[in-house]
Amino acid sequence: MAKTVVVVGTQWGDEGKGKITDYLASSAEVVVRSQGGNNAGHSIFFGQKKHALHLLPSGVFNKNKINIMADGMVVNPKALIDEINLVKNEGFQDFKLYLSNRAHVVMPYHLELDGLFESIREDQPIGTTKKGIGPAYMDKASRFGIRVGDLMNKEKLIQKLQISLSLHNPLFQTFGKTEFSIEAIAEEYYAYGQTIKEYVTDTTVLLNQLLEEDRKILFEGAQGSMLCLDHGTYPFVTSSSPTAAAVPLNAGIMPQAIKDVVGVTKAYSTRVGSGSFPTEFEDEIAKGIRERGFEYGTTTGRPRRIGWIDGVVLKHAKRINGITGLAIMLLDVLTGVEEIKICYAYELDGEIIEHIPADYDCYSRVKPLYKTYPGWNEDLTNSKSYDELPQNCINYLKAIETITGSRITIISVGPDRKQTIVLHKYF
Ligand code: GDP
Ligand code: IMO
Ligand code: MG
Repeated sequence: MAKTVVVVGTQWGDEGKGKITDYLASSAEVVVRSQGGNNAGHSIFFGQKKHALHLLPSGVFNKNKINIMADGMVVNPKALIDEINLVKNEGFQDFKLYLSNRAHVVMPYHLELDGLFESIREDQPIGTTKKGIGPAYMDKASRFGIRVGDLMNKEKLIQKLQISLSLHNPLFQTFGKTEFSIEAIAEEYYAYGQTIKEYVTDTTVLLNQLLEEDRKILFEGAQGSMLCLDHGTYPFVTSSSPTAAAVPLNAGIMPQAIKDVVGVTKAYSTRVGSGSFPTEFEDEIAKGIRERGFEYGTTTGRPRRIGWIDGVVLKHAKRINGITGLAIMLLDVLTGVEEIKICYAYELDGEIIEHIPADYDCYSRVKPLYKTYPGWNEDLTNSKSYDELPQNCINYLKAIETITGSRITIISVGPDRKQTIVLHKYF
């Protein structure tokens, strides 16, 4: 039997999925990204240096791993080429990369549409990363999309662009924007196709073959469960499903192939972009957390909003992902916080609830109910085992386990690969 592990974000993204994927990749053989695009920003720290990835799976820094960008991704080919060159220039040349011919291409007009759609929302923009993700998935769903495989044939590409731009160009005209030229885009994107051709393949066939060969396969999540198009705080979400449930669909494998699901969770919460965030607070403690955790977006540089850990969110994430273990990240950042809060339920119009209401207005009205735990002052960044952690820190971790009903399998006490305490061996 192949050993498979899905790494999934349980909150609003930026939980530390990149760090955990890079860490687990050392003992895996294959690393797969299956949805989203370069809206993701995954920071990985080793050898005193930070490396940021947006499209490439976080297996590329481990020697000789197979890295797969699967069917459900939306890929900006220029950004991909730049990222491959950057990683190779940093001295990492030994990865094998495969890109699905079914993945959709983020076209230049998707970037323009992303900005346009945000401006139409006036005082309620989503706060997207402006990477064209929503419009690329919109074209995919409405069957106007262009897939990676289409970049290989110029005539086919021109035909597809004619259809797609006959829809979008009139819109640009209406809003006083410059229309896009089919010829110029076809020329540029065909050239990108030629540059990335060596990586393009049917990754579904490849992945199923690797499963049959009983390989160790790691699926790297992007975004977080609360940004899920179906199960997040709609409409303040991304345009794909970042859940473990979506992995088989987006990678072209059977659901039964998924065994373990690691729910990556910050020891507190953060959110970038707009949308309700019940446990958010903004005071000196939040500022301290933002500075110590360097809570600024990897993709956009925006300061991240800060909140306490939210047990309702984590229970929701457990239900929709089938989480088998939690990885608690950035625990070191809470050092020095006198009292730490955990939200265990919400109050909505006088009623106590333990689920995420579907209606966004209801979700905006929920009031978090907290349990408070005494903090600790000890520096955790050199802790090598669970037993070395201060008692108040252990009490806090136990409370998270009790409130969420999930066991903690990994604890992260710093950004470096070495600053990881593993309580369960995944591979
Ligand atoms: P991702 O999108 O889920 O991969 O997360 P990001 O990389 O966007 O954000 C997580 C940030 O936290 C990055 O800057 C990481 O280097 C950093 N990080 C991860 N784990 C830890 C940790 O345990 N402690 C500290 N201090 N930083 C961490
Ligand atoms: P990683 O993989 C945090 C957020 C955006 C915005 C919403 C929609 O690094 O965890 P989009 O550009 O996807 O249409 O934006 O989703 N968002 C993320 N927030 N981490 C991410 O990825 C995100 N990807 C998208 O800020 O609120
Ligand atoms: Mg990120």
